[in-house]
Amino acid sequence: MSDLVQRVQEVLPSVRRDLEDLVRIESVWADPARRGEVQRSADAVTKLLTEAGFGDVQIVSEGGAPAVIARHPAPPGAPTVLLYAHHDVQPEGDPTQWATPPFEPTERDGRLYGRGTADDKAGIATHLAAFRAHDGNPPVGVTVFVEGEEESGSPSLSRLLAAHRDTLASDVIVIADSDNWSTEVPSLTVTLRGLADCVVEVATLHHGLHSGLWGGVVPDALSVLVRLLASLHDDDGNVAVAGLHEAGAADVDYPPERVREETGLLDGVSEIGSGTVPQRLWAKPAITVIGIDTTPIDKSSNTLTPRARAKVSMRVAPGGDAAEHLAALTRHLEEHTPWGAHVTVIPGDLGQPYAIDATGPVYDAAREAFRTAWGAEPVDTGVGGSIPFIAEFAAAFPSAKILVTGVEDPATQAHSVNESLHLGVLERAAISEALLLANLASERQVAP
Ligand code: BES
Ligand code: MN
Ligand code: MN
Repeated sequence: MSDLVQRVQEVLPSVRRDLEDLVRIESVWADPARRGEVQRSADAVTKLLTEAGFGDVQIVSEGGAPAVIARHPAPPGAPTVLLYAHHDVQPEGDPTQWATPPFEPTERDGRLYGRGTADDKAGIATHLAAFRAHDGNPPVGVTVFVEGEEESGSPSLSRLLAAHRDTLASDVIVIADSDNWSTEVPSLTVTLRGLADCVVEVATLHHGLHSGLWGGVVPDALSVLVRLLASLHDDDGNVAVAGLHEAGAADVDYPPERVREETGLLDGVSEIGSGTVPQRLWAKPAITVIGIDTTPIDKSSNTLTPRARAKVSMRVAPGGDAAEHLAALTRHLEEHTPWGAHVTVIPGDLGQPYAIDATGPVYDAAREAFRTAWGAEPVDTGVGGSIPFIAEFAAAFPSAKILVTGVEDPATQAHSVNESLHLGVLERAAISEALLLANLASERQVAP
């Protein structure tokens, strides 16, 4: 065991350099102008996995982003472990808000800053480190699957799954794309919320009108839209849409000071919603308005706006169905549009939530690996974010055991500016995964 820990520590500097090279590639699949970068990123991942000793590495796509599949066959009688990560990243946002350039990995105070350093190029780095620590010859079968469109809701994943079902079949699936309780305490993620979004468009007029001539008699579309959006929450900030699912949350302590520290909530701004923090974050639905199209202020004039639209994003609690939730949201929007304004709801992405029964030998093996690597007991946590991949894989491979791990920590700021990876967390995550592969080899009963 301690040999393996030492091997991870030996390979880590090279893994860190490879991670930095990946971060320099602007693999934003959501930006059509940067699809060539996503291809370059898939090529780079392919090269790294080939050099690490995988015999069979291929780039696959089914009309969407390129994904990479690498395979190391299982020794006789040993299980096969699928290691998942994604090589696409979120757009960088406002570059002037970054302390250092988003695609130039930079170390400060033990953290590596840059878009994708954590979400989720660190997942790729973790898999590379674990495989290299075993000198390219782990005692279990290993299939690495690195997706290229996770941040866009994995639209072609079901086709990829269908086309490569036999190649991807495995006994244990490790998804290195989640959070940790802290930089010193690991999480085993046991629930994730799902996602359903839509664009709501309202129209009140055929064309704009002089706001002095007609204001006060006919409504402008933006005023209608903000009233409609305001109807999505009650005065306490709870979601006010009828028919949504609510689950039970893990009983862990999450004090208000921690929320304030982790979010940077401004002085005087209160939290919203009722229930404990874990309940609201992991087990209740949430609705956010993530974008709006209307007249920008510098183009505004005294004109009644004839139409306006907003993108509404909803998180679905574990146990709920994303399609049913989108239908409930659509109904709400149609029924709450004031003053008879015309309303159109354009459905968007759906991703199912997921809840894992984290008991049995595979989860025991994972907890044991965590304990050794971190020197701390792992915490079973939920997360408010979504990885729609999980429900799809669980449906395709119902007997596979799913482990959701990750290299993020509460200070990571994934999706925001100044995203970063804690380098100590990378080391501990890599050691955990290397130990897990060893632990699973002696576990003959992983699949029923
Ligand atoms: N790694 C995240 C999911 C996540 C977030 C796990 C926070 C743990 C903590 C993933 O890359 C992500 O951002 N998923 C999207 C999915 C969406 C585009 C369908 C999300 O949650 O918004
Ligand atoms: Mn991710
Ligand atoms: Mn993400």
